[in-house]
Amino acid sequence: MGRLVIRPHIFEGEVGPDKSVLQVLLDLHVPQHFSCRRGLCGQDLIRVLSGWEHLNPIGEVEAGTLTLLLAWGKSMRMACCTRVVGSGEVVVEIVK
Ligand code: FES
Repeated sequence: MGRLVIRPHIFEGEVGPDKSVLQVLLDLHVPQHFSCRRGLCGQDLIRVLSGWEHLNPIGEVEAGTLTLLLAWGKSMRMACCTRVVGSGEVVVEIVK
């Protein structure tokens, strides 16, 4: 299990590799825009503040959306596609 921190003051704890950042937010009943849950709609942008190396790889659909949003290469991910893999710590913040 890895460790996930969602800022500002939203969540801090262990998460398995099967749970996306979006799912963590939904489990906590945090208001969060989302629709497709597959990296296409672009509604759940997050910024990775640290621990990028402990995330699952970016898939083709998510990469296309990040590019359209001008977020590619800027430590951004879509929350629905982002999962902590391994045992490291990842810190993210909600962008929109
Ligand atoms: S819910 Fe659509 S990109 Fe994440």
